[in-house]
Amino acid sequence: MLIRPYAYADATPTLKVFFRAIELTARAHYSKAQRAAWADRAGRTIPTWHVARSAADTWVAEVEGRVVGFADLDASGTIDMLFVDPDFARRGIAAALLARPLSTARARGLTRVRTNASDTACPFFLAHGFRIEEQRTVVVRGVSMSHTALVLDLEPEAEAEAEAEADAE
Ligand SMILES: CC(C)(COP(=O)(O)OP(=O)(O)OC[C@H]1O[C@@H](n2cnc3c(N)ncnc32)[C@H](O)[C@@H]1OP(=O)(O)O)[C@@H](O)C(=O)NCCC(=O)NCCS
Repeated sequence: MLIRPYAYADATPTLKVFFRAIELTARAHYSKAQRAAWADRAGRTIPTWHVARSAADTWVAEVEGRVVGFADLDASGTIDMLFVDPDFARRGIAAALLARPLSTARARGLTRVRTNASDTACPFFLAHGFRIEEQRTVVVRGVSMSHTALVLDLEPEAEAEAEAEADAE
C-alpha cells in the first residue's frame, strides 16, 4: 500500500470511494435517506470535488495502482474526510492514512486534532486514541443524522519520536 499526496487525477477515484463508503460501509448505521443526503450525488461534480479536496492537505491510499482511500487535514487541524473503499475495509488502510494528518499536525505545532465522526467511523477513531467531546444530531440537506465530535491531544513531535524509539527497543 502506498500513501501519497492527493493530485487532480485522484478526483474521480476519491469521489467514487466516497460514494461507495457511504452507500455500503455506512449502511450499517444510516438509513437510505440519510446516506443519500450525506452523499449528495446530484450536488457534486469532479471540479467542485477537486477544489474542496485541494483546499485541505489530502492524502490517498493506493493498492496496486487503485485509489482505495483518502484522508485530509484542514488548516484548523480538523480531519474532515476519512474514507476507505468497502472492498478494502479492515485492512489497516484508514490507520495508515490517519498517520499522515497526525504527523502533519504535529509538524505544524498543533496540540490537538479534531473530527466529526460518523457512527461508522467513531469506533475507528476511539481505537486510535480520540476521545468523545460531544454527540450531536445534525441536519444534512434536510435530513437529521447523528455524529460525534472527537478530539485527540497530540504529543509534541520529539516526545512522539522518543516514545516510538522506546517501543522499538
Ligand atoms: C471508518 C473507515 C474509514 C475505517 O477504514 P478501515 O480501513 O476499514 O479501518 P482500519 O482497517 O484501518 O481499522 C483499524 C481499526 O479501527 C477499528 N475499526 C475500524 N472500523 C471499525 C468498525 N466498523 N467497528 C469497530 N471498529 C472499527 C478497529 O480497531 C480496527 O482494527 P481491527 O480491524 O484490527 O479490529 C471506513 O469504515 C469507512 O470508510 N467508513 C465509511 C465512511 C465514514 O464513515 N467515514 C468517516 C467520515 S467521518
